[in-house]
Amino acid sequence: MNERTLNVDPAKIPNHIAIILDGNGRWAKKRGMPRLFGHREGAENLKRIVRAFLEFNIKYLTVYAFSTENWNRPQDEIAGLKQIFNEAFGSNLKRLSEEQIRIIHLGQREGLDADLLTKIDRAVEETKNNSRLTLSIGLNYGSRNEIMHAVRKIVSSGAKPEDISEQTITNALFTHELPDPDLVIRTSGEQRLSNFLLWQSAYAEWEFPKKLWPEFNREDLIDAIEEYASRDRRFGRISS
Ligand code: IPE
Ligand code: IPE
Ligand code: MG
Repeated sequence: MNERTLNVDPAKIPNHIAIILDGNGRWAKKRGMPRLFGHREGAENLKRIVRAFLEFNIKYLTVYAFSTENWNRPQDEIAGLKQIFNEAFGSNLKRLSEEQIRIIHLGQREGLDADLLTKIDRAVEETKNNSRLTLSIGLNYGSRNEIMHAVRKIVSSGAKPEDISEQTITNALFTHELPDPDLVIRTSGEQRLSNFLLWQSAYAEWEFPKKLWPEFNREDLIDAIEEYASRDRRFGRISS
């Protein structure tokens, strides 16, 4: 296969990319299919994109798969999504370990079914020593909910106000084991955060490719990384 290679200075490849997996429903609708068909293809696409992350040696991938607001969708769509999550967490464990992928769950446990939580916990536990790629999955995740949980945790620890630093908050978030994302990608052309990584993406670069998530491929990822590498991240300073 004559595949395009990633032609970027290794120092300019992001360490952590977060992706808002958006556009599954529209992708299915364009094909005259039910929305769940798009969610299934979206899950398949995540496997393909994970392969590209391994190939490019990117250490952290965080995906937004189900938000705290997505409970407001029709019951049949939620039921179908639950089934997809159950299958995904139940069936890929062997492959994850073979490929040295660590799984982290981001999101509130309350609200998720006990059987799904058991599968998530098992995946997290069995992959905890894998270090080639950390794949964090936002499922029942919302940034405001995450910050609320962090505040509860800090308050119940008995911390004194003057002892609370930015790091205290960072450490109390679901993402406490992750570095901040360098690049956040939202597919499907929508340009909003939808309650994703508000605290963590304070200095991330953002990209909004038009492609719908099921059709976002390795080439699009290369485009996104090349675009990222061309930017000047100043962090408030002036250009070097
Ligand atoms: C993203 O695709 C997946 C979830 C939010 C679960 P959507 O389902 O939002 O697809 P569109 O935006 O309706 O096309
Ligand atoms: C954001 O997508 C959540 C996920 C991708 C999981 P949505 O499609 O739910 O967001 P809105 O409703 O368009 O903002
Ligand atoms: Mg959407």
